[in-house]
Amino acid sequence: MKNIVILISGRGSNMISIVEACEQEQWNARIVAVISNNPNAAGLFWAQNKGIETLAIDHKNYSTREDFDHEMMTKIDNFAPDLIVLAGFMRILTPGFVTHYEGRIINIHPSLLPLFPGLNTHQRALDAGHTHAGVTVHRVTAELDHGPILGQVAVPIFAGDTEEDIAARVLIEEHQLYPQVIRKLLKDMES
Ligand code: GRF
Repeated sequence: MKNIVILISGRGSNMISIVEACEQEQWNARIVAVISNNPNAAGLFWAQNKGIETLAIDHKNYSTREDFDHEMMTKIDNFAPDLIVLAGFMRILTPGFVTHYEGRIINIHPSLLPLFPGLNTHQRALDAGHTHAGVTVHRVTAELDHGPILGQVAVPIFAGDTEEDIAARVLIEEHQLYPQVIRKLLKDMES
């Protein structure tokens, strides 16, 4: 039985999809904790209602990224994670954190990496006149949004689309892709 820790910062819609897939598909894994840097993250309350252990580690209480990451690592290691899933987690992690979890930490990014790392990805795709947007699940390395790609889905951009239209279209694919990638990673861990 593998231990999965999910890190969120807000609504946690990807976390919800993963929890539900884990239950419905009866993964040989359990979500042992949902942790957020934002004590008001809606996803924390959803997870609590599901009986999943939650933690809020408010980054505003730490004077440096290193101090925050150190506290995160201390708390996360208590759950003996086999996989750490960043799901709408909006903090940039220090190289020390990434190195500590190298090989068992993944992220979801709302663009077709290597296109548009960073923020405002859909608006940037619109502004660049691209015909497609999309989502990427990748391994986390010290370089932001640049790790080995584990899965990708493209969605069309239609004339007249707003950034919100694209985000909504991509989010539907996110909720399918992330559980699919995690399910495969768990199978690979078993073999
Ligand atoms: C999503 O667009 C995801 O791609 C990005 O954060 C956004 C919010 O995700 N990582 P969630 O609803 O909090 O899972």
